[in-house]
Amino acid sequence: MTKSFYVTTPIYYVNDAPHIGHAYTTVVGDVLTRWHRQKGESVWFLTGTDEHGEKIMRTAQTHGISSQEWVDKLVETEWKPNWRALNIANDDFIRTTEVRHTERVQRFLQGLKDAGHIYAGKYEGPYCVGCEEFKIPGDLTLKGEEWLCNMHGTPIEIIKEDNWFFRLSAFIGPLLAHYEAHPETCQPESARNEVISFLKSGVTDLSISRSTFDWGIQVPWDKDQIFYVWFDALLNYATAVGLGDSSESEGGKKFAEVWPPDVHLIGKEILRFHAVIWPAMLMAGNLATPKMVFAHGWLLVGGEKMSKSKFTGIVSKDITDHFGVDAFRYYFLRAIPFGSDGSFSWEDMSARYTSELANDFGNLASRSAAMIEKYCGGVLPVVSHAADLEAALKTAVDKADAAMCALDFQGGILAIMDFCKRVNGYVTEKEPWVLAKDQVNKIELDGILYNTAESLRALAVLLHPVMPATCEILWQSLGAREKLGELSAQKIADVAAWGQLPEGATISRTPVLFPRLETSA
Ligand code: ME8
Ligand code: MG
Repeated sequence: MTKSFYVTTPIYYVNDAPHIGHAYTTVVGDVLTRWHRQKGESVWFLTGTDEHGEKIMRTAQTHGISSQEWVDKLVETEWKPNWRALNIANDDFIRTTEVRHTERVQRFLQGLKDAGHIYAGKYEGPYCVGCEEFKIPGDLTLKGEEWLCNMHGTPIEIIKEDNWFFRLSAFIGPLLAHYEAHPETCQPESARNEVISFLKSGVTDLSISRSTFDWGIQVPWDKDQIFYVWFDALLNYATAVGLGDSSESEGGKKFAEVWPPDVHLIGKEILRFHAVIWPAMLMAGNLATPKMVFAHGWLLVGGEKMSKSKFTGIVSKDITDHFGVDAFRYYFLRAIPFGSDGSFSWEDMSARYTSELANDFGNLASRSAAMIEKYCGGVLPVVSHAADLEAALKTAVDKADAAMCALDFQGGILAIMDFCKRVNGYVTEKEPWVLAKDQVNKIELDGILYNTAESLRALAVLLHPVMPATCEILWQSLGAREKLGELSAQKIADVAAWGQLPEGATISRTPVLFPRLETSA
């Protein structure tokens, strides 16, 4: 059996509705998934929701409903519809309140206890409910008499409890050795350096249970305690694919097919959880650690991380209502180098929409269809070759594939859009509308029109992972579906082979792919 490429997003807290920060990670996961599918790989893409813990319990309380009612409502009315609206092709959606999750968590952690990785202890120290995190001095700032969490700017709470502890400190050595031997498993480099210095600063054992509230998964050997929300949440990546199930069962087979994860996509604020605690848990359970954790940057508002708790979240619908879903998917990957922070700006998005999507890409498609209609009755003329375009396409595909596989989405999209620019240059240079004035130029004119349409065929395939709905429309209008099959079945490895659109394909007028923007916004 060949291993599936396994991609995950964080499971998001459902204390509120999603904003574009959550959409950013999820769209990235979707584009990566679709790109690898078009490489002919089998891909498993998981997202979901993190539903336990004090933060969610308190939110439900302030709304006067039970925690379970709150999470059910948010997941069904906000989170799942948001991903459908953004055309996210996830294979599964895990909720940490599902029995498949809670049972597997209990079984796995009982195993860690039996193997001696968990012991009883006393915890006393600061906790931030916003982060759901036990804090260390470097995470806090003293303001007057009060210690504030650096992430949330809110006062921390002091917890004093008898808890269960995980021997995290026992894994410092193995983790340092792991990152030394496999630096590629934690990216970008700045994130890896942060993890290594954190490990070297002396990591202590971790409290993994709570006893002062009950919204969580019960500790199987101690009915008075529930697991600490992060210890439950990190396991989602494994419980969703059958963690601990017997090898002949459906879950066991799924696990063998996907484990270990190829890419965990996360925001940089949850790096320590994913690059320290999570691999240590897996090492303790004798499971393979992830092939890569990639910590991306933040979408900023006024120079600060956009966040639910600070009410600075912009919802994706505000943007998609104006620019459309595909422009939204395109913009954040194109504008922000993956790994860096970026600010959303309405002006920058409008400018790119107009120049890159409407002018460079959309106009090329409509110009090409209009000329083929006008000069060839809407039927694609005989197959032709343009050596320079073929070479430019080959270069673009190689660059784009290397970049996309390295999670350099900006570089990948740029390589494709450079080819688009090159095709526009070709049309401008050849002036088919001038050639069309004299019948003696018919063969040359036909060749130019063919080469333009064939370039659009390649652009539809290459941009499909980023802008699936728009490229589908283009694919239909090129008559390609009828002749070449489904767009999603087109392979990246084959896209540069010239001459795939056959003579006689019916080209229909492309609906405007990127309509002119309303100026009011
Ligand atoms: O941390 N910019 O959930 P969460 C970019 N439940 N990405 C952002 C962002 C921003 N301003 N805001 C949020 C949790 N994100 C835990 C995760 S995983 C086992 C448990 C994205 O609701 C980014 O991916 O706070 C970030 O890491 C994630 O949402 C945090 O979502
Ligand atoms: Mg958060």
